[in-house]
This record gives sequence, C-alpha cells and structure tokens, in this order.
Amino acid sequence: MKNVLITGADGFIGSHLAELLVKEGYSVKALSQYNSFNNWGWLEDIDVLKQIEVLNGDVRDPHYCKYITKNVDMVFHLAA
Ligand SMILES: NC(=O)c1ccc[n+]([C@@H]2O[C@H](COP(=O)([O-])OP(=O)(O)OC[C@H]3O[C@@H](n4cnc5c(N)ncnc54)[C@H](O)[C@@H]3O)[C@@H](O)[C@H]2O)c1
Repeated sequence: MKNVLITGADGFIGSHLAELLVKEGYSVKALSQYNSFNNWGWLEDIDVLKQIEVLNGDVRDPHYCKYITKNVDMVFHLAA
C-alpha cells in the first residue's frame, strides 16, 4: 500500500492529507480540479509539493478516473 491517489487534494483536507502521506513515505498522486489558471488551490502552500505528482482533471470523467487509478493501491476520495 504505497501508491495513493487523493482526489480533492486541492482542498483543505486533501492538501493536509497529501502532506502527511508524503512525510510518512507514500508515493502520492494528487488530483486538483482543472481550472484555466492552472491553480492547485491549497496544494500550492504545502512544503512537500515537489514530491507530489499533481494531476488536473475532474472526477466526473470516468475514463480519466480509470486512467489515473492505474497502479494505485488506495484512493482517498475527498473531491466534492
Ligand atoms: N472540512 C470539514 O470540516 C469537513 C467535515 C466533514 C466532511 N467533509 C467532507 O470532506 C471532503 C473534503 O472537505 P474539504 O473541507 O477539504 O473541502 P474543500 O472544498 O476544501 O475541497 C474539496 C475539493 O474538491 C475539489 N473538487 C470539487 N469537485 C471536483 C470534481 N468534480 N473533480 C475534481 N475535484 C473536485 C475542489 O476543487 C475542492 O478543492 C468533502 O467531501 C467534505 O464534504 C469536510
């Protein structure tokens, strides 16, 4: 269980969870909802951002969700 995906990682809880899991040694993919400013929300402020793979997209797109969950052991679904 080393590869995790966090949806809603650009949000309040997701960004803190991303930070915690990186510090605990997990490989973290962080989904940020796409916007035209390429802004990653709360993720922009965490100190381990360079160790996270940030993805831009939308959980309402099932094809994208299938793609980003490949080789992922666990999903924390916080997008809402
Ligand atoms: N913060 C709390 O105290 C609290 C308490 C109980 C439950 N929750 C639940 O926990 C979850 C996260 O809470 P939060 O406070 O971090 O919320 P938040 O609004 O800060 O973060 C949610 C994130 O989801 C993203 N998002 C929304 N729709 C999306 C979509 N279609 N595709 C991809 N991303 C999308 C948004 O960009 C946002 O950054 C929510 O489901 C919330 O209802 C929060």
